[in-house]
Amino acid sequence: MALAIGNWSALSALPGMDDAEFARWADLLERRTGVVVPPARKPFLVTAVRGRMRETGHSRFDDYYRDLHKVPEGAIEWTTLVDRLTVHETHFFRHPPSFDLIASEWLPRLMQSGSEGALHAWSVGCSTGEEAYTLAMVLDRHIGMLSDARVYFGVTATDVSQPALAVGRSGLYPRNKFNEIPADYRERYVDEIDADSFQVREALRKRVGFAQFNLLDVARAPLKRLDLIFCQNVLIYFARDRRRELLTALAGLLKPGGMLVLGAGEVTSFAHPALSRVPHRQALAFLRNR
Ligand SMILES: C[S@@+](CC[C@H](N)C(=O)[O-])C[C@H]1O[C@@H](n2cnc3c(N)ncnc32)[C@H](O)[C@@H]1O
Repeated sequence: MALAIGNWSALSALPGMDDAEFARWADLLERRTGVVVPPARKPFLVTAVRGRMRETGHSRFDDYYRDLHKVPEGAIEWTTLVDRLTVHETHFFRHPPSFDLIASEWLPRLMQSGSEGALHAWSVGCSTGEEAYTLAMVLDRHIGMLSDARVYFGVTATDVSQPALAVGRSGLYPRNKFNEIPADYRERYVDEIDADSFQVREALRKRVGFAQFNLLDVARAPLKRLDLIFCQNVLIYFARDRRRELLTALAGLLKPGGMLVLGAGEVTSFAHPALSRVPHRQALAFLRNR
């Protein structure tokens, strides 16, 4: 969608968004991604849509909405808009108790029970990759400590946002994130590039594969028999019923003994016949029964 030169005066006075218009955009986002924008977050949605309209030379919501539905240009524009409409905040080692659970309880038990020699984890809604790299660091470090045998592991990191995935693939992060990584992990897994940035080492980057995937398509996920599914700070943006549906589908992708880790407090009263809640005071996790 090229910017229409000469449209600037119309663009500088983009219309306000009334409630019906807001409902239409919020509905589009929910249908396509599951993300619910409550009325209190209307300013966030309006800023994102209007910002993108300005960049593409649209002065009317109707025209932009129609162009978004054109095939195939609309699909390309959607990949940019969806990035603006979703929240990408993330950190390395964001919820330490969840990683402690993996390192000190789940992984030792899995290795003791005789792992099949390969371990596959999925970071669902990985944003710019910090969660996926944290998983890779924790798995690499602790597999090495627990076993002399070569146990291969890989992490699949998925998100709807292409720009976020591009950052993840580069493994390049701004300096202000450096201290999110504990010193002993920093020494092993990242290199300082310059005063402003650092990068995850290639050996670890090779263990993490990034791909665009919409969680709403989980029934068609090309992943199965996973050891670990990590899904934090994604479902909180979804409607309650949808969360349950998606969790049920995620449970079906776990191997016996596999673990589903959610954000603490993100889901209440979820139960599944094949899953047992892991007794842990700070982490919210479920084990797939053998
Ligand atoms: C707040 S970030 C959470 C990142 C990371 N999981 C963490 O806890 O730090 C939420 C991510 O979910 C992604 N997301 C939202 N809806 C999605 C969907 N339907 N499918 C896949 N990813 C989605 C967003 O693009 C965003 O990057």
